[in-house]
Amino acid sequence: MKETTNDGQYQKSLPTALLTAYEKTIANIPFSQDIFHELEQILMSPGKSMLPEELRIPSIAPYFEARHKLINIALLENGATQVLEIAAGFSSRGMELTNNPKFTYVEVDLAENIQLKRKVFQAMVLKQRISSRKNIFFEDGNALDFSTLETTMKHFDKSEPVAIIAEGLLRYLTLQEKAIVASNVKQLLEKRSDIWIISDADIDLNRRIEDFDLNLFTSSNDRKRFFEKLGFGVEEYQYMRIISELVSPKKLGKTDEEIERLFKNKHVYVMRA
Ligand SMILES: C[S@@+](CC[C@H](N)C(=O)[O-])C[C@H]1O[C@@H](n2cnc3c(N)ncnc32)[C@H](O)[C@@H]1O
Repeated sequence: MKETTNDGQYQKSLPTALLTAYEKTIANIPFSQDIFHELEQILMSPGKSMLPEELRIPSIAPYFEARHKLINIALLENGATQVLEIAAGFSSRGMELTNNPKFTYVEVDLAENIQLKRKVFQAMVLKQRISSRKNIFFEDGNALDFSTLETTMKHFDKSEPVAIIAEGLLRYLTLQEKAIVASNVKQLLEKRSDIWIISDADIDLNRRIEDFDLNLFTSSNDRKRFFEKLGFGVEEYQYMRIISELVSPKKLGKTDEEIERLFKNKHVYVMRA
């Protein structure tokens, strides 16, 4: 399926990957500090900050920490060892999991971001911040373009299940685009044990982003119907479940009540076709 909408909209979501990379450094997620440091080395120009101050919002770090760790739990609980992460941005999950040679991890993002990610990884290997490895791949692809996604599947053993992740992508897409991505993913999920893990399908996300507000579902029933109509069964993983494993709330001096408020009605969704 070919991309149908203008590229400008996607360009707007490229820098958001820097924001989430920053949030993860506060939570001290493995490799997040190194990734952010390398991004600064590559992107910073004299007198200019790579990520403007207004986009450094430490108070929402627990949200991103929970999302990251909950997706890791969903992978673990479903026994996933082959992972395709769409819109991977500057997430450290691939580097984290491929420390274990059992994993094969394919990261996909739009050309500009994935080229940058590859450079970051290579710099980390050169500086021996991470070991060189043959089980992680960085591929240029568009979630709206089935052929680019399908090509990346060549890295996997066809007889084993695959987990596809889209973390922090759906809110940037219109309902029509979400349906295209869902249909693309559905075509890739061939086996009963294959799964699709998503975030950003909640009704009231914490940070309003004016350009993308129209993309949100209007009710949880609306969301449920949307995915069921596309042929997915949906399992909810509540953010509250991970609260005791988070480090950023303590670091930020947040009370349990504040975190509970931040996590109210927030989920990661595990979908089966
Ligand atoms: C908010 S960032 C999330 C990055 C990462 N998943 C995380 O949670 O830290 C959104 C990412 O989506 C990517 N993106 C936006 N539109 C895309 C598309 N059509 N196909 C693939 N990636 C896309 C952006 O380039 C960016 O890296």
